[in-house]
Amino acid sequence: MTPPEDTVPPETPTEAMRAFLSGRFVVFDGPDGSGKSTQFRRFAGWAAAQGVRVTEVREPGGTPIGEQIRAILLDPRNKAMNVRCEMLLYMASRAQLLEERIRPALAEGHLVLADRFVSSTLAYQGTAGGLKQAEIMDVARVAVGELWPDEIVIFDVDVETAWKRMAAGRANSAPDRMELKSDAFHERVRQGYLEQCRADPARYLAIDARHDPETVFARLVEAFVSRMKAGIAPRF
Ligand code: TYD
Repeated sequence: MTPPEDTVPPETPTEAMRAFLSGRFVVFDGPDGSGKSTQFRRFAGWAAAQGVRVTEVREPGGTPIGEQIRAILLDPRNKAMNVRCEMLLYMASRAQLLEERIRPALAEGHLVLADRFVSSTLAYQGTAGGLKQAEIMDVARVAVGELWPDEIVIFDVDVETAWKRMAAGRANSAPDRMELKSDAFHERVRQGYLEQCRADPARYLAIDARHDPETVFARLVEAFVSRMKAGIAPRF
């Protein structure tokens, strides 16, 4: 059976999960059309229902300054933007988000749930866009300092399924500048995420996102419960 939204599955030790999630920095990431944002909302509700104080942030944006940077990044008229400019703008938005929202929330013991983070830049501007991972990491260290996520959940989906979901989800709105890139680009994005998962399995959690949302959510919760049981120490 799959757990209904915002309820705690009976097998979940709520107290332990609350301690595990409080003060933790968790990123949800994956290709466009992976269903990550749906899972993000659902997971945030599930954590809050267990008494965890949750701060939700999204990238690019999440602050008044970041939202202005987001508008530049996603504007389809900005065809001339080169990949270095793009990478620096994503990082600039992130630097503002970190100081204005993420760091204070962690200091208060909140679970910070971020929709995208440095892992997106490594996949989109790195593996797919052609920038070296080391160059991106150098800039990331300037933008975020030592504050790295505790868990990075990657929702993995094939390009064809992703396109179908994006077309269905978009209804009347036009695709943004990133969504307009080629299938080959999006396939490289996917491979970029999978490479990151392989390189750092302790921090990354890959979830097969081709299934229906209920199945994906149940697996996500299961994965968190088993990580918690594995005794990964809470941060606070
Ligand atoms: P958004 O509408 O927020 O997409 P989603 O709901 O899929 O997160 O658009 C963000 C777009 O920006 C998305 O195509 C991924 C891309 N992106 C990068 O290329 N690099 C980055 O560092 C980040 C954070 C996002």
